[in-house]
Amino acid sequence: MSATAEAMVLAVFIVATSIWVGGYSAIVVVARTASATLDPAVRVAFFRSLGRAYFWVGLPALIIALVTGGVLARDLPWDGLLIATVTIAVVLLVSFAVAVVQARRMTRLRRRLLESPDDEEVAEQVRRGSRAAAGLRALLGLLSLALVVLGAFLAV
Ligand code: HEM
Repeated sequence: MSATAEAMVLAVFIVATSIWVGGYSAIVVVARTASATLDPAVRVAFFRSLGRAYFWVGLPALIIALVTGGVLARDLPWDGLLIATVTIAVVLLVSFAVAVVQARRMTRLRRRLLESPDDEEVAEQVRRGSRAAAGLRALLGLLSLALVVLGAFLAV
């Protein structure tokens, strides 16, 4: 690959990684602010809209970052570091898919709870579900950070 093409791939990689990591951090701040200021019904509608809109920003950014990262790493030897990086990338993609399915389930559950606020069974499902959702989101953040660190080690 020519030096120009290599530089262009690197530029796309940096932009895509920034969008993924920056978007994630921004949603954490937005989620805190939304929880502190919006009524439950508005909050559910807000996250449904935000989540669906951000899906089409976050997923392409993540895929482009992983593909361009793969292009940049194409000549590296398949040592422990590269295997660990690829493994974490695969786990991140799978966790992302699980987190989106879980988030959609949570929206449905929260709506059911808004319709019948005294339903203890649904309330318990919401409590358990939101703990699982928070865990999955934390995992996404940790895996993303781990990838950035491993990527930096691959680059030097
Ligand atoms: C970074 C990539 C992320 C993507 C692509 C994403 C996408 C989504 C999607 C598709 C939904 C479901 C909307 C529906 O009902 O159809 C959703 C819901 C939600 N998201 Fe995200 N999300 C991301 C990160 C985060 C983060 C970092 C937080 C908070 C720390 C967050 C908080 C929420 C909340 C609170 C909901 C509502 C469902 C629930 O109560 O669990 N999201 N998101």
